[in-house]
Amino acid sequence: MIIKTSIHGQWSSRVAFILAATGSAVGLGNIWRFPYIAGENGGGAFVLVYLLCILLLGLPIMIAEIMLGRRGRQSPINTMLSLARDEGRSPLWGGIGWLGVVTGFFILSFYSVIAGWTLAYLFRAGGASFAGLDAEGVSALFTALISDPEKLLAWHTIFMIMTVMVVARGVQSGLEKAVKLLMPGLLVVLVLLVGYAAIEGNFWQGFAFMFRPDFASLTTNSILLAMGQAFFTLSLGMGAIMAYGSYLSSQASIVKTAAVVVSADTLVALLAGLAIFPIVFASALEPAQGPGLIFVTLPLAFAQMPGGTVFATLFFTLLVLAAWTSAISIMEPATAWLAENHEMDRAKAASIIGGVAWFLGIGSILSFSLWANYTFLGMTFFDTLDYLTSNILLPLGGFLIALFVGFKMKISSVQEELAMRQRWLFYVWYYLVRFVAPIAIALIFLRAVGLI
Ligand code: PHE
Repeated sequence: MIIKTSIHGQWSSRVAFILAATGSAVGLGNIWRFPYIAGENGGGAFVLVYLLCILLLGLPIMIAEIMLGRRGRQSPINTMLSLARDEGRSPLWGGIGWLGVVTGFFILSFYSVIAGWTLAYLFRAGGASFAGLDAEGVSALFTALISDPEKLLAWHTIFMIMTVMVVARGVQSGLEKAVKLLMPGLLVVLVLLVGYAAIEGNFWQGFAFMFRPDFASLTTNSILLAMGQAFFTLSLGMGAIMAYGSYLSSQASIVKTAAVVVSADTLVALLAGLAIFPIVFASALEPAQGPGLIFVTLPLAFAQMPGGTVFATLFFTLLVLAAWTSAISIMEPATAWLAENHEMDRAKAASIIGGVAWFLGIGSILSFSLWANYTFLGMTFFDTLDYLTSNILLPLGGFLIALFVGFKMKISSVQEELAMRQRWLFYVWYYLVRFVAPIAIALIFLRAVGLI
């Protein structure tokens, strides 16, 4: 049985879906995580592998995820269960949905903590706290924030409530308008920041750091991290895009839509890097300093530029909005499932999910202070969740999705749902999903654990 529309509603148009999916994809992953992970992994060669992963794994798997969502028309768990049934396959494939829900809890828990940092910085920017600071001053400001668990808890709580409030009302209302303003705004501000970095920063050194591959710095682990970052930044492998796909109308072209979302996301990440690294080098900051990178680099630029306070306020406002539209999508799969299976209204479902993720987030908050010395394989609670979700759980979800679409669905079902006019393009995609993606993910995993 194929349901034509979702009980949770539908996007008003293809453009609305593009906006929502871009809102999901573009977030802290692009502006906070991409520069810090690229910085820790030596730049160039990492960025190249990341771009290859986006093109060869990310884009095909995004198409597959949207296609599954639209065909199933329910929350990812029920979508996978009903598609498995339709295709005469084991209900165990519903596990893809479950894996996604668990991964979503983990991600949401620390995502909201980092989004809390951006909220805190928005208020600092508005209060002109950066004006006149030097590199040491901005670092001290950042350290003061992350070593204060009470403050972090307050911001984390506020952000989680903001997210629950939107998800409770249904993601279609409001999200569309928010993203319509956010995306162009974010692009303009980022381009201006890159312009500033080009004039005042060490632009060519930053540029070379990002784009001149030095393969000697490319370790097995950094390949795994580049793949993980590709999944994280595109919101793939945990059902967020699948859930959004279930609200997409049957007429929309999935391939074109996915291409737009992937391009926008990549553009934002690269611009963020180009804004940050020239400033890092001009101020003799450390590119490999970790999660604090943008919170130290950008305020330093704001501290020195004319009109810095206004600009900083604008930037952090947009960053909070970008994080918000992403967090909403992380919450959607679990919320939709609770609403479907337990006849719960969305408000209650979203509150429960937000509550659990909020509680888990406390662990990440403490990682930066009281629990900083409790480590597992050298990683704090926050580092562990961040590593586990991006580098293992999301690619694993993507791997299973690729196997299901490539081997368990009838090719006729896949063709029918995608309705692509160019046959050759279909086969290029199908080949990527069927062979290239699962084999590449498996090889990278096996190598990371030292088996090959
Ligand atoms: N893609 C989002 C970002 O870059 C994060 C995200 C991950 C959202 C997984 C949904 C699912 O910030």
